[in-house]
Amino acid sequence: MKIRPVEDLDLEDIAAIDEKIGGTYRPDVWERRIVYYIRRDPEVSLVAEIDGSVVGFLLGEVRSGEFGLEEPTGWVEVLGVDPDHRGQSIGRRLAEEMWQRFRSRGAKTVRTMVDEGMPQVSGFFRALGFEPAPVTSLALHLDR
Ligand SMILES: CC(C)(COP(=O)(O)OP(=O)(O)OC[C@H]1O[C@@H](n2cnc3c(N)ncnc32)[C@H](O)[C@@H]1OP(=O)(O)O)[C@@H](O)C(=O)NCCC(=O)NCCS
Repeated sequence: MKIRPVEDLDLEDIAAIDEKIGGTYRPDVWERRIVYYIRRDPEVSLVAEIDGSVVGFLLGEVRSGEFGLEEPTGWVEVLGVDPDHRGQSIGRRLAEEMWQRFRSRGAKTVRTMVDEGMPQVSGFFRALGFEPAPVTSLALHLDR
């Protein structure tokens, strides 16, 4: 397995993994997201490739000065491993490579937000050493 930075050409494979996970084929959504992350930092967002096919992806970036957090912070925002390739440490290897790249950009902390309705994602992050952080997520529903 090879870990490398995400490229525009990974769109189809990533949209196919997302479809396997969520049941909807959304190439437009993924095109926008991939372009966004590549523009922000072409070396930090990663894919795992086996025999020329993408089997997992991890998108994120280093940002500072948000939510009162002044120090550079690595944010992990989107991830997915092909259901046929789970449990083989692909997610862990993507994450460890991303932490190294975050570190080289000055980040000392990695943060993410996980929906409580997605216990498998939360279990994955906890296995990687993440702990609950004293930050409250607030939402206002504008359509109500
Ligand atoms: C969460 C996810 C990325 C894990 O990928 P993976 O490659 O199977 O994970 P790994 O094999 O690298 O597992 C790493 C660690 O996390 C743990 N882990 C993985 N899935 C877990 C789960 N569902 N519950 C608890 N722990 C879990 C593993 O036990 C492993 O622990 P260890 O290294 O200490 O043995 C994958 O299940 C996934 O893509 N889920 C769907 C994500 C999603 O809904 N994305 C939104 C659409 S973009």
